[in-house]
Amino acid sequence: MPRNPAWARAMIHSPGLFAAVVDATGHILYVNDAVASACGCGADALLRQPALERILSSDNYHRLIELVVNPDKVNDPIHFEQACCCNQEHHRIVAYVASRHTQQDTDEPIAILTGFDVTGRAQMTDALRRSEAQIRAIVETAVDAIITIDDRGNIESFNPAAERIFGYTAAEAIGQKVALLMPEPYHSEHHHYVNNYLRTGHAKIIGLGREVTGLRKDGSTFPMYLAVGEQNTSDGRHFTGIVRDITERKRMEAEILHIAEREQRRIGQDLHDGLGQMLTGAAMVSKAIAQRLKKKSKLLAQEAENLTALLNEAIVQTRQLARGLQPLDQADEFPTALQELGFQTESILGISCRIRADALPDSCSLLAATHLYRIAQEAMNNAVRHGQAKNIEVNSKTLGTAVRLTIRDDGSGFAEPRGRGLGLRIMDYRARVIGGHLDIRSSPGTGTTVVCSVGGPEPALETVHHADYSSPLEKC
Ligand SMILES: Nc1ncnc2c1ncn2[C@@H]1O[C@H](COP(=O)(O)OP(=O)(O)O)[C@@H](O)[C@H]1O
Ligand SMILES: [Mg+2]
Repeated sequence: MPRNPAWARAMIHSPGLFAAVVDATGHILYVNDAVASACGCGADALLRQPALERILSSDNYHRLIELVVNPDKVNDPIHFEQACCCNQEHHRIVAYVASRHTQQDTDEPIAILTGFDVTGRAQMTDALRRSEAQIRAIVETAVDAIITIDDRGNIESFNPAAERIFGYTAAEAIGQKVALLMPEPYHSEHHHYVNNYLRTGHAKIIGLGREVTGLRKDGSTFPMYLAVGEQNTSDGRHFTGIVRDITERKRMEAEILHIAEREQRRIGQDLHDGLGQMLTGAAMVSKAIAQRLKKKSKLLAQEAENLTALLNEAIVQTRQLARGLQPLDQADEFPTALQELGFQTESILGISCRIRADALPDSCSLLAATHLYRIAQEAMNNAVRHGQAKNIEVNSKTLGTAVRLTIRDDGSGFAEPRGRGLGLRIMDYRARVIGGHLDIRSSPGTGTTVVCSVGGPEPALETVHHADYSSPLEKC
């Protein structure tokens, strides 16, 4: 084999490879093309020159010389990584290894320096480090709790917002099961949900986001919005939960609905007791005038009677308006009010309505009863307006303190709501405000069933569209 075969030359001049040999004074004995080009001249011009000063930082250059002259002080080999110091190549990052040797012929100490261009890797590491720092800053300062768990439900990370919201420190939470943050029955059932998902891949919550109930360290529960994402990494599957405490939003929603309901009730009462009474008085007066005018002028008497009829019609309309605004005076009027609603729908629109309603539980407040009534009213309106139903069935069952109100129609049904109406959303709010949940089942051609359940056993997370947070019916 020749002493310096072509492949050996090719190898020493491979792209990205830096190679140099220097003596104890730093003078160059050999450089390859990459070092020569970094130094800005041909390899021959660098021989016997202390030219590595041009591409190495002064610290690294002196460590290199120390390696040769001070073998007792400097461990062999040395490693360092640095940007090229020369102007043209300063963007390049090179990882160097320098080792100590002796010249074969003279026995003089020398250093062999080799380096690899690691600019791409260094840039990537730098970008990774920066994005990691950014993500850490976001996670640390987020208003929402960010919690990561492994596929066995063990908490792996717990950010400061999670500490604030749940009351556990990160040290207390990490390593525990995530079920720690859930009340029953989710607490006991969480591992089933995870196993079920891992087995079937059928997501109930991942990638969807929903309202659920959270459990704080002090045992109190609160409504929260939970969004879950999944990551597959080399060390397995992980889930990230982002939790927003929506107690305040819920309180506001309830407050708005209550205010609206109270205001409607007030207007209804004013109409009934104020305007209604005045109209009744006016009708009585005009009737008396008509009586008196009968002897004097038939024409005038007829006009007074017409006025009385108009006033009576106005009284009926005022009562109807007042009823619409204030459908119930007491919670125990709920069954009769529903019957009345069914009767009106049947007589005005000619649609068959079958209404069966138990009395509500004694503990049920007027406001809660009104919300239930409004849900039934909106579902019946939708059945008529959107579904063109021929038959509507309303069934309100009371079981102890629980109520299950079902409105079923045989109309067109729907896959996705067509309009941008608020009705379905407000029904849902109303159900939640009274501590219940709404379940709407509908598909084209099969009609629509709306079920509002309040109280009773908590619904399994699997079976309902919306998990609830419990507040008893009577609280409203
Ligand atoms: N019983 C029903 N039958 C058929 N479609 C319905 C029914 N209930 C709701 N929808 C659909 O859902 C949409 C939204 O309903 P809703 O929120 O109550 O809006 P709106 O205020 O217009 O009544 C309707 O436009 C309709 O497409
Ligand atoms: Mg509607």
